[in-house]
Amino acid sequence: MGEERSIETILEEQRHFDPPQDFSEGSHLKSTDEYEKLYKHSLENPEEFWAEMAEELHWFRRWDNTLNSDNAPFYKWYENGKTNITYNCIDRHLENSNRNKAAIVWEGEPGDQRVMTYWDLYREVNKLANALKKLGIKKGDRVAVYLPMVPELVISVHALARLGAIHSVIFAGFSAESIRDRVLDCNAKMVITADGAWRRGNVLPLKNIVDEAIADCECVSDVIIVRRSDSTAFPCHVKEGRDHWYHRIVDGESITCPPEEMDSEDILFLLYTSGTTGKPKGIIHTTGGYMVYTYLTSKYVFDLKPEDVFWCTADVGWITGHSYLVYGPLANAATCLMYEGSPDWPDRSRMWAIIEKYGVSIFYTAPTLIRTFMRWGKKWPQKYDLSRLRLLGTVGEPINPEAWVWYYKHVGQGNCPIVDTWWQTETGGIMITPLPGITYTKPGSATRPFFGVDACILNDDGKETDSGYLAIRKPWPGILRGIYGDPERFKETYWSKWDGHYFPGDGAKKDRDGYFWILGRVDDVVNVSGHRIGTAELESVFVEHEDVAEAAVVGVGHKIKGQGLIAFVSTVEGVDFGPSLEKELVEMVAGKIGKFALPEKIIFTADMPKTRSGKIMRRLLRDLAEGNTMGNISTLADPEGLYKLKAKYEEA
Ligand code: WTA
Repeated sequence: MGEERSIETILEEQRHFDPPQDFSEGSHLKSTDEYEKLYKHSLENPEEFWAEMAEELHWFRRWDNTLNSDNAPFYKWYENGKTNITYNCIDRHLENSNRNKAAIVWEGEPGDQRVMTYWDLYREVNKLANALKKLGIKKGDRVAVYLPMVPELVISVHALARLGAIHSVIFAGFSAESIRDRVLDCNAKMVITADGAWRRGNVLPLKNIVDEAIADCECVSDVIIVRRSDSTAFPCHVKEGRDHWYHRIVDGESITCPPEEMDSEDILFLLYTSGTTGKPKGIIHTTGGYMVYTYLTSKYVFDLKPEDVFWCTADVGWITGHSYLVYGPLANAATCLMYEGSPDWPDRSRMWAIIEKYGVSIFYTAPTLIRTFMRWGKKWPQKYDLSRLRLLGTVGEPINPEAWVWYYKHVGQGNCPIVDTWWQTETGGIMITPLPGITYTKPGSATRPFFGVDACILNDDGKETDSGYLAIRKPWPGILRGIYGDPERFKETYWSKWDGHYFPGDGAKKDRDGYFWILGRVDDVVNVSGHRIGTAELESVFVEHEDVAEAAVVGVGHKIKGQGLIAFVSTVEGVDFGPSLEKELVEMVAGKIGKFALPEKIIFTADMPKTRSGKIMRRLLRDLAEGNTMGNISTLADPEGLYKLKAKYEEA
């Protein structure tokens, strides 16, 4: 009760949290003056700023133009520069004492451990790169990676980048059909997977899922299998001529593999993300700009120091795991913690036990997980020594002030600044964020833009306001370069709302101090536990069922997940909807997308609210599901039907 009241007070007071003095004194940026000067410089002379920052990294050949906007929005950064991101994340550190420093400290779900120094990582990456070369992988080839959170995931991604092959990591929670779509969209030549993955003490048969996915993908000529689970519960079929065990192909390979000299604008990776249509988009990131951007944001936002142990809990299947596990921190020679499993296995203290055991000093996670920890209670973190923690971060969705304060008190013990970082798959790295030694924070606000980020809030007409759509005025090095195979969709989705400004698809407001408060998506993308799910994607799964006539899916507020999905489904005439249809639809979503995309409720109705021209009014469904008063219903064909549906929803 006392705690609740203090949270309310914070909301009323708009209380500020200043960075602890010793944190500021020891941080990369020590004073507000220093920060203001650098920020001003980054906005007034972005090319100079970004050139200076890029000089901190290794280039085989220096670039000619820092930014070429001739063919905007197809921006080019560090034009004609040659580099390799793995060289910067690994080789660069072998020349000094970082050579023997832990790069990856890994813990498996069953409790096994592995520590890899930068030198170990170098050897393993090169051995795999040489083995991949023998299998014919070369610059520009696309390779899908479907692995659990094991060190081989980091090694694989780096080995591919070393050769200039394009990686497309697919989150291991995706179903066979999702893998197939992604493999076919980019014509992947190879899939790297594991026999199985540990999840809550059980083994998920990853390789079997891949077999099903690629059964008729002619583009895939090889599959590599990491031995992880060795489960006898299910057979792992090895197809002669196509499938290779990872440990066999790397055995005896040379530990030297010269990195490909990549053009700054050569594609580094594709990462598929949901959009407003039924088809996921392959977001393109290129080499030089992404490298500089993830390097610099890691350095300043996480204030990385040689002695830090940095733990980003995101799976490498999402952008956060790419930018803040695989690349950015390693470019800074940081020690990264990586954990394979579930936060409640074998019990709800697992995360805290790991923080204590490895002396984690920076912890970066998602609001949905913080809300879950909150529900489990403070007794779990209290059992552990978390005193090494000095900085906390969040990402993926808006954080409610209650969760922020809980995190601050019970995890950070009142000593750790919190960086609430706003960004997207498309932005490559963090865009709006506190700098922990400089910025005073307000629970729930991502505060201010990072260096070089010219963010503002616009209305539909492109006029600046305090509450409207978030927009970015200038290009930055980490920006996506396109949607794979679909340049028109790229222009249409991100660049057509206003002239020359990037449209992220989020609503936001700005307060008197110029602080940004991100309000969530304004398009048909729903953020469920930090996972982006396009409602159109889900709807197209439902209507594939022969008994379904129409489906409309909306997002509604959810206590733990941030948002949850509610599906409204109408059946074809004469079909009885009952539990068996519901079960079949649930199985279809799990099978075609993945379990994480399951709706909270499926409501069967013959009264889908429609306009007179027959368009489903999703806005009304959202109001209904949120319990809001109904908006304008004057365009509705059958208002009576809506009231019937409302009554039914309230019963469900
Ligand atoms: C949301 C994850 C509020 C936002 C890095 C964005 C956030 C989408 C925050 C991108 C934050 C991310 N505060 N909202 N700190 N961070 N979002 O592509 O709606 O998986 O557009 O990238 O998550 O999700 P994505």
